[in-house]
Amino acid sequence: GYDLWLRYRPLPAAQADAVASKATTVVRDEDDETIRLAAAELERGLSGLTGRRIAGGDLGEGAIVIGTARSARIAALRLPLAGLGPEGYLVRSVTVEGRPVTVIAADRPVGVLYGAFRLLRIAQAGQSLDRLAIVERPRLALRVLNHWDNPDRYVERGYAGQSLWDWQKLPGFSDPRYTDYARANASVGINGAVLNNVNASPDMLTPAFLTKVERLATIFRPWGIRVYLSAKFSAPIEIGGLKTADPLDPAVAAWWRAKADEIYARIPDFGGFLVKANSEGQPGPGDYGRSHAEGANMLAAALKPHGGVVMWRAFVYAHDKPEDRAKQAYSEFQPLDGKFADNVIVQVKNGPIDFQPREPFHPLFGAMPRTPLMMEVQITKEYLGFATHLAYLGPMWEEVLRSDTYRPRRGMTVAKVLAQSRLSGMAGVANVGTDRNWSGSQFDQANWYAFGRMAWNPDDRASDIARDWAAMTWGPAVADPVAAMMLQSRQAVVDYMMPLGLHHLFATGHHYGPGPWVDDLARPDWNPVYYHKADRAGIGFDRTRSGSDAVGQYAPALAKRWGDPATVPEDLLLWFHHVPWERRMASGRTLWEELVARYDRGVAEVAAMQGQWAALRGRVDEQRHDEVSQFLTIQRAEAQWWRDACIAYFAEVSGRALPAGVVPPT
Ligand code: GCU
Repeated sequence: GYDLWLRYRPLPAAQADAVASKATTVVRDEDDETIRLAAAELERGLSGLTGRRIAGGDLGEGAIVIGTARSARIAALRLPLAGLGPEGYLVRSVTVEGRPVTVIAADRPVGVLYGAFRLLRIAQAGQSLDRLAIVERPRLALRVLNHWDNPDRYVERGYAGQSLWDWQKLPGFSDPRYTDYARANASVGINGAVLNNVNASPDMLTPAFLTKVERLATIFRPWGIRVYLSAKFSAPIEIGGLKTADPLDPAVAAWWRAKADEIYARIPDFGGFLVKANSEGQPGPGDYGRSHAEGANMLAAALKPHGGVVMWRAFVYAHDKPEDRAKQAYSEFQPLDGKFADNVIVQVKNGPIDFQPREPFHPLFGAMPRTPLMMEVQITKEYLGFATHLAYLGPMWEEVLRSDTYRPRRGMTVAKVLAQSRLSGMAGVANVGTDRNWSGSQFDQANWYAFGRMAWNPDDRASDIARDWAAMTWGPAVADPVAAMMLQSRQAVVDYMMPLGLHHLFATGHHYGPGPWVDDLARPDWNPVYYHKADRAGIGFDRTRSGSDAVGQYAPALAKRWGDPATVPEDLLLWFHHVPWERRMASGRTLWEELVARYDRGVAEVAAMQGQWAALRGRVDEQRHDEVSQFLTIQRAEAQWWRDACIAYFAEVSGRALPAGVVPPT
């Protein structure tokens, strides 16, 4: 699994011949490092796919000609390169000097690299390289992985081994894996990496670490990737010797300015800071009675002369606030709309609680028209069964991106909200580590891949992405059955963990496995009972006007639809409503029966995936097949565990009889 979706194994003969006829040689006349990487990738990929040696050479029929307008050959074609923006590209079948060739051209070298990976994707899927006419540019500017990696290489919520960053050996030793990591990111258009945990160690900003960060930045740069750091708000105290971190204190602002200058002296294209402030115990401007905008703007001023940005997280909630946790981010941030400096982008999780298997979109999307917002998703599956459960997250992100915010009017989807802002982006909490297969499981690689694709184009379809990934990773011949399995997998997890809008039923701390009964944690908002509110009469969180009125944070049209149990989608029913157990559902069943049926369906879906996967035995390599089979066996058993535990608990709370087949946990 180390090769990810860049395996480049030989295609079946007919397809290999077709590709080879359109890829006789790779022609470049620019001596730019990134363009050299693009050429090398094409040679490597096309050679692998065709089983022939495809190398650099002179222009001839079937050549692939790559470059920017700096190449005389490319310039002569008079292609509309300037309109492609800094990262766009075009891939076209054209005639050059009387010969049919394919051109990959861009305004900047990184576009050429992206175009090369695009052409390879087409070839990997076994599709024709004839008559190509592709024009692409990313819809979002910042396509960034957030590594929750600590200096000691522990990865918070990481299920794929240790952190890739071997700080102890940096900067002296450059693990080749850093290059492979950058290459994989570039292949899907990811252009940034926040190297350290949002629960940040201030040490990351010390000179000792900055020399190491500089080394990584140098390795990543030719692949179009900038590095960013999570900044701890109290760093001026901890490593700066100041008495305060008050953002309005001139000495604090001066300290950050000097720190930014120091970083940019080493890393001229440093991306900027990511900040988790006044959330889950982290320090922040609130400690000094200052707002998030005042905190963010102070850091933004330090970065501004260098072109850096602040990604300021809106994931805030406090246990000592009586307000429904789902409402707190909106309450705190929405009034600050328009108050942030122009190099601040507010980073909002996809949903209002915390990366649950299903949440409605976050109400801040559409509600801060004067503030750039980027969406944060969690690629690592903290709440979807870690690396052992197969869950393809493309459909989850698609669901959010396609949600209509109705702000300012109908049709304004979350994807459009993201794309329209002057600074735009998407962040994904990375799922990679030192495991040989990078992600802890073969199928979790698809989530890394899908994140890159959706950040590039938030309107891309999860199903198309799944098929591409499956073709590249498992081979074009099995792409359809593999993609079919992937597409049902996330709903399966929702069904066996927390159907119908239930959320946060997880066991304490690690979040692996069920714990709906937990009611004794010091922070009430960490207890599952806070979220499901099951009792003798019914189940669900009343977030309508008679309850917390979280639904009132959405546009009126949505608030109306979701605020009424008769019109809210059943998938969100218990998110917004406390509903009697005897309520009739669309299926004709009572809510209780429906709940049980959904849990059953989840288990059955995993069993179905096992069958689908078993049918592929012999059609993919044995080693990876076997690993996936074993993981599915774990998932099947644990789906049952979730079902039994949750149903047994809810049966007891509601005073209902246990349905057949439920084995309550001991
Ligand atoms: C979740 C997660 C934490 C993380 C936090 C965050 O609560 O469990 O580990 O720090 O999100 O996004 O800041």
